[in-house]
Amino acid sequence: FLGIIFSVGTLIPGKLSLKLQYDGDQVLHIVPETFQQVQHLQHLCSTLLLDLWKPLQPEDIWAGEDLHIRVPAPLVQEVKDSLAQHMISYRVLIPDVHKLVDQSMPRERSNHRQVSESYVYTQYHPMEEIYQWMSQIQKNNSELVTQHYLGKTTENRTMYYLQISQPSDKTKKIIWMDCGIHAREWISPAFCQWFVKEILQNYKSDPKINRFLQNLDLYILPVLNIDGYIYSWEKDRFWRKNRAPYMNGTCYGTDLNRNFNSSWGSVGVSYNCDSEIFCGSGPESEPETRAVAQFIKRKKNDILCYLTIHSYGQYILTPYGSTTKPPSNSEELMHVAEKAAAALMEKYGTSYKVGPTSLILYNNSGSSRDWAHMIGIPFSYTFELRDNGTYGFVLPPEQIQPTCEETMLAVTTIIDYVGQKY
Ligand code: ARG
Ligand code: ZN
Repeated sequence: FLGIIFSVGTLIPGKLSLKLQYDGDQVLHIVPETFQQVQHLQHLCSTLLLDLWKPLQPEDIWAGEDLHIRVPAPLVQEVKDSLAQHMISYRVLIPDVHKLVDQSMPRERSNHRQVSESYVYTQYHPMEEIYQWMSQIQKNNSELVTQHYLGKTTENRTMYYLQISQPSDKTKKIIWMDCGIHAREWISPAFCQWFVKEILQNYKSDPKINRFLQNLDLYILPVLNIDGYIYSWEKDRFWRKNRAPYMNGTCYGTDLNRNFNSSWGSVGVSYNCDSEIFCGSGPESEPETRAVAQFIKRKKNDILCYLTIHSYGQYILTPYGSTTKPPSNSEELMHVAEKAAAALMEKYGTSYKVGPTSLILYNNSGSSRDWAHMIGIPFSYTFELRDNGTYGFVLPPEQIQPTCEETMLAVTTIIDYVGQKY
C-alpha cells in the first residue's frame, strides 16, 4: 500500500513524458450525504494524497457539497472500491485526464504563431511565447502600450506588466488586473492576453472602452506566477504554487494567494510546505508577492480597482476571505459585481455566483484581493472563470474564446462603472 503511494510520488517525468504523466488518471465527482461519508472521504484524500480540485482541503469537505478529486491511475480502482464499500456514490467527471492535458498542449509550435499579428488567442501559450507576445504588443502599439519591469521571480525570471494609456494631459486613475497567480489555471493568462488584444483592437470604435480610457489607465500583469506557470507546462500540469524551495529543498512552493499581508496565516492556510495552501514563511515572504505588493503600495492612491483572475468555479468574489465581516462599501461592491455577472450571462448564458469569498466559497487569509481592499483600493474582486467542474483546470482550448468574450463583458462593466464614478 505504501509502496503504491511512493511510486506515484517518485514518478517525476522528464519534459517529454509530461503528456503521459496523467495516463489513466480520472477526476471523480462526489456529493457526500452523511457525516460518516464526509469523514471517510477526508480520510481517503489525506492518506492517499489525492489531488483535491474542489474544495482544496479535506477539512473543507461538507455533506451536500460537490467534491472534485483527481485520482492517479494506480489508485483509481482502489478508490472506487473503497467508495463502493462505504456506499458513497460517485460519477466519473473526467475519464481520461491525460487526453485533455494532451489536447490543451499543441504538439508543434512554428515561429509565425508568435508574431503578434498572427498570435493565436484561442490556444494556450507557454511562457516564452507570452514573453514574446508582450514585447510584440508594445512594439506594434507603441502609442498606447508600454512594457514595464515589475520584479523578479524566485527562479530569477523577470516579471513585466503592460500599461495601456491613451495619451492625454489629464491625470488618470488606474485599474490593475493580474492573471496566473495560480499556475495550473491556464485560462487566466489567456484572458489577460485576450483583454489586451480587445482593448487595442476596439478602443476607437467601442464607446464603452473609449469612455473609460479617457479617465483610466489599465495595468495588466499577464502571468504573476511565472515559475509555476512554466512548471505546469514542463513538469506538472496541476502545479498551483510558486517554486520556492523550503526545508532545504525537500519541499517546494508557496501559495502566492495566501502570502499577502492581510490577516496573514490566520484562516484557510497551512504552515506545511507540502500543502497546496502553504502561506509561506511570513507575509510577503515570496519575491512574486513582494513585487506586486510594493508596486501596488506605491500607486495605491491612484488605483481604484484591483482585479485578479483565477479558475475555476464561475464566481465573482468580493472581500473578504479572511472574515465574514463585510467591508464598508459592500453594497456597492455587490451591486457592481451583479451588474458584471448579468452582462456576462447575456453573451452565452453562463451563470456566475456573486458574493463575499468567506460566505460563498471558503475562508482564506493572505489573498491579494483582501489585501488590496484593506490598503484602501475600493473595488477589489477575484474572478473564478469557467467552468463548473466539467473540465476544471483543463478547460479545452475551444472554450478559450467564449470564456474570454463573456468575461470581457463583465470586466469592462466593472471598469466602466469605476471610470464613470471618478
Ligand atoms: N482558483 C481557485 C483558488 O484560488 C480555485 C478555488 C475554487 N474552485 C475550485 N475548483 N476549488 O483556490
Ligand atoms: Zn486560483
